[in-house]
Amino acid sequence: MENFNWECRTKVRFGKGCVARELEGFVREYVEPGGTVMVGYGGGSAKKNGAYDDVIRVLEQTGCRIIEFSGIMSNPTLAKMLEGAELARRENVSLIIAIGGGSVMDCCKAISVQAKYDGDAWQDFWMEGKPMTHEVLPCGVVVTMPATGSEVNGCAVLTNEETRIKTDRDYAEVNPVFALMDPAYTLTMPLRQLRAGTFDILSHIMETYFSWSVEGNPADDVAEGLMRGLIRDFRAALADPQDIQARSNIMWTASLAENRIIKTGKSKDFEAHNMEHQLSAYTNCNHGEGLAVLHPVYYRHIYRDGLGKFVSWAKNVWELDRNDYASDEDLALAGIDALAALIREAGLPTTMRELGFGEKEKELLPEIAESCFISGGAFRPMTTQEILEIYRECW
Ligand code: NZQ
Ligand code: ZN
Repeated sequence: MENFNWECRTKVRFGKGCVARELEGFVREYVEPGGTVMVGYGGGSAKKNGAYDDVIRVLEQTGCRIIEFSGIMSNPTLAKMLEGAELARRENVSLIIAIGGGSVMDCCKAISVQAKYDGDAWQDFWMEGKPMTHEVLPCGVVVTMPATGSEVNGCAVLTNEETRIKTDRDYAEVNPVFALMDPAYTLTMPLRQLRAGTFDILSHIMETYFSWSVEGNPADDVAEGLMRGLIRDFRAALADPQDIQARSNIMWTASLAENRIIKTGKSKDFEAHNMEHQLSAYTNCNHGEGLAVLHPVYYRHIYRDGLGKFVSWAKNVWELDRNDYASDEDLALAGIDALAALIREAGLPTTMRELGFGEKEKELLPEIAESCFISGGAFRPMTTQEILEIYRECW
């Protein structure tokens, strides 16, 4: 096992009614009487699922001053983050509360970094990964869509529209100070977001599991259990989108996948994410859908480089029997076929054309491949040429 440090400072409060029960205590902890809270949200779904009203009701009870930062888009941009940071500075904000999915949480977490930083946070932290030594503004989150696990990690994925780079880094200092997770808010999610978000969770677990070291270890044991449970809950939620038990399980699995527990002692691949992030930087495609297209193709490229892990996955997650296959390679490929079948069963896109790409996007593929970060944690590092091959096989 590789050496590791583990921490996760986020205080999680999970379950029905948690905002009404728990938010006031957090506000009193971070905001002086009469101080200012910035409420960040996206295009309005938070007003339909009840989360916004629940937050505002509590904030009004505490008597703090409320300012709003709305219109945070999916795949948030650096420009939007800078606008929010400027507002937070100007209004002397003491606490940011993000209400939404990964995009809103990420944008608000990034605002919390830049609002207290005199330099160029994008350049210093996102691009150069310098140590973060300045005080970060406290940011708490109210999750309305399970997917990214942003509620319990220190990542904040932004798109720089000028350079066409979409990226992030995980800083312990950027973890939200609290996460309020009421599964009832997720019931209004459109089926498309349920599919994409749940696949993103599965992707996070796979990207970690398929990396060094490969010998038996507690992190991978947990990961196998999480994958089995998530596949079960995904099917249950697709069969009955109002199944609150399945929705609750999916919500907590998103956090367990990203609170760094399953990353302990693992090199972490995330090359599928690197490839998807750049597709998204150029096309603004949906994150989970882009991953669904890429994963099976990527794994058919690398399964021989981590064969033992692909065999364990086929047996322990997809419950395939070694006796039914002529070789370990065949068994590993059958596991990847099972993943591809789940993607089809869920109604997720399986090709770039199904993502809505046309000739314009096709022509951009070499440039997009050129712009991808290469993961140092993969079973085998990609080359630009192989990324382009993968993109073309996804067409
Ligand atoms: O804009 P609003 O009105 O909030 O609507 C959102 C958005 O249209 C909607 N939505 C959210 N909760 C809802 C709801 N609609 C109805 N009912 C609800 N309860 O869903 C749409 C998608 O939301 P978004 O936040 O964009 O989705 P997601 O959570 O998948 O986040 C995607 C972003 O996170 C990044 C992705 O790259 C992308 O930019 N990621 C962040 C990570 C992290 N912080 O660790 C890791 C991930 O790998 C990922 O890269
Ligand atoms: Zn993801």
